[in-house]
Amino acid sequence: MLDAPALLSELESTAERLLERHLATSKEWFPHEHVPYGRGRDPVEGEVWSEDDADLAGATIDDAVRSSLLVNLLTEDNLPYYFRTVEQMFGDDGAWGTWVRRWTAEEGRHSMAIYGYLMATRAIDPHHLERCRMAQVSLGETPSPETLQQGFVYLALQELATRIAHRSTGRMMGDPAGYDVMMRVAGDENLHQLFYRDLAAAAIEVDPDGMVVAMEEQVRTFTMPGTGIPGFTEHAKKIAAAGIYDLSVHHEQILVPVVLRTWDVENIEGLGQTGEEARERLMKRMAKSEKVARRLNERREANLTPA
Ligand SMILES: [Fe+2]
Ligand SMILES: [Fe+2]
Repeated sequence: MLDAPALLSELESTAERLLERHLATSKEWFPHEHVPYGRGRDPVEGEVWSEDDADLAGATIDDAVRSSLLVNLLTEDNLPYYFRTVEQMFGDDGAWGTWVRRWTAEEGRHSMAIYGYLMATRAIDPHHLERCRMAQVSLGETPSPETLQQGFVYLALQELATRIAHRSTGRMMGDPAGYDVMMRVAGDENLHQLFYRDLAAAAIEVDPDGMVVAMEEQVRTFTMPGTGIPGFTEHAKKIAAAGIYDLSVHHEQILVPVVLRTWDVENIEGLGQTGEEARERLMKRMAKSEKVARRLNERREANLTPA
């Protein structure tokens, strides 16, 4: 297993190549061009928000989608801490540092766009949102992977999870402007996940044992960022019940395509005893997670089928 400085130096040219690919693929966009300002109005100090104040172009949103918008925005608001974690892992030199700063700049526009949309449309209670933001950012709770290898794995899984959460939320919004904001943000998350996913794939080549151990650890302990949001568990339950993000989505749309297909953990070669043992545990966990996903899907289908 390689230590962090050795792994960073082994992967420096990969980071450079992936950074160049990212810069060539990502397109400039402007958060303000996605905000329907025409629907906004001046605030009245102390005014109590009500659901009927919202202007969603004739659409409505339910409680689960409102929870999801709140959680997704507040998750983006916690960026200072993600920056700290990733910069501590990657450092600020060369391609690593350039990536961390560029990635941070892109992440910064996500909260701008979603916040702008929510304020112009009054889709959620602005006092509640701001109090939750203050509470969360003051707490500073954030996932902090213990090793560089775990960081690669976590970032790849988390960026994809965030992409899916934004996309699914957007799809459940009848308002085309809301859909557009969430898709635009999800587009960035997609490019981020490709960077981290392929970085991890290159790390597997140079440090197979370290990476399989990290995969096992991260698949076992993965949690979305956002646990510091007041009421996170209740929001997460509503989001799961609505099918926006639950263990079946997590298994089928994140773990299977990334861990099994792209990283092809079953066929990684050159493992020592530690890596082999970790892989065995990981495969058992994947089988368990598949069972949970299947059960959830069956339950959902049963609920949807009229008796
Ligand atoms: Fe983001
Ligand atoms: Fe991202």
